Amino acid sequence: MCVETAPKSGCRKSSCGCGGHGRRAALPDARAILDLKFGEESVPECGCSGRTCPRHYLAWSGFVLGGFLVLHLAVNLLGLWPARFQAAVNRIHGLGAALPILEIGLIFIPLTIHVALGLRTLGREKLKFGVEKHHHGSDLRQWLQRVSALILLVFIAFHIGTLHCWFGGRFDPRNAFNSASQAIWQFWHGLPAGNPGNLLFAEFYLLGMVAAVYHLANGIATGAEVLGFTTTPAAQQRLWRICLVAAPALLLAGLAVWHAFANGSPSDIGN
Ligand code: HEM
Ligand code: HEM
Repeated sequence: MCVETAPKSGCRKSSCGCGGHGRRAALPDARAILDLKFGEESVPECGCSGRTCPRHYLAWSGFVLGGFLVLHLAVNLLGLWPARFQAAVNRIHGLGAALPILEIGLIFIPLTIHVALGLRTLGREKLKFGVEKHHHGSDLRQWLQRVSALILLVFIAFHIGTLHCWFGGRFDPRNAFNSASQAIWQFWHGLPAGNPGNLLFAEFYLLGMVAAVYHLANGIATGAEVLGFTTTPAAQQRLWRICLVAAPALLLAGLAVWHAFANGSPSDIGN
């Protein structure tokens, strides 16, 4: 059944993930009412048995990760002032035993859920252009969302692996600025930061940043639609415009972070 506010592909859906089982109720048209067979249980067209669509979990986990990303870049922006960055890291690591619990609960669990559901979607539909959509964004926006997802997957795995201590990473909270700067700018320890081999890895950060900002900005707009936060075309357009304005601001902040750590001539802050 099609209504004016439903995504254009909503009528031909064969798999779950429509966002249509949440709060947003579609208005039935006259023919659909006449076709109703009373006494028979209605089965949603997308075949998800009326339970919350996996797509909703993808959107919720994406929103949590978005909150983390903004906070992460805000803290890292303090890298422009290494002493303040060290003070912020001291406060964060001063949380003691609560820190790993927060990291697991607010970052790693949402990330695992999001990646698992994201890979499930990508596994089914690959990177095909123009597959069914559950929102009003264009085909290009959806395709870029998926391309940026794959870039992010590689980037986050690389980033966490090279920085986080749980995975043998080089970030040392007692020498926060220098250790982060070196991990980003001197992937190959023995080579100077400006060496092409090291530059390649440092520049990968730029790609990761662009992918993260696009994925988040577009994802907020489509996710809000999937979760039923924006139900009218006017509200959807308004949020998309806000995201279009916020994205360059976030990218600018990200580039400032990259620049702060990139040009990081070793600071004498920390041990
Ligand atoms: C900091 C990292 C990330 C953030 C902030 C984030 C955020 C989001 C948001 C808000 C959405 C929108 C949900 C919707 O439209 O229903 C989304 C969608 C998606 N994300 Fe992520 N995500 C991140 C990382 C990843 C990674 C690593 C993958 C890799 C598998 C991924 C795969 C996807 C996929 C496949 C979609 C749905 C695309 C579509 O159906 O068009 N995301 N993400
Ligand atoms: C130049 C930019 C960036 C810098 C300087 C930076 C710095 C760091 C540092 C120092 C850590 C280790 C924190 C710790 O072990 O306590 C970390 C972890 C992490 N970063 Fe980044 N990061 C940057 C960009 C990004 C981007 C773009 C994303 C997302 C797409 C991201 C996602 C993560 C995640 C998921 C973790 C692991 C969770 C955590 O320990 O907080 N980072 N980052």
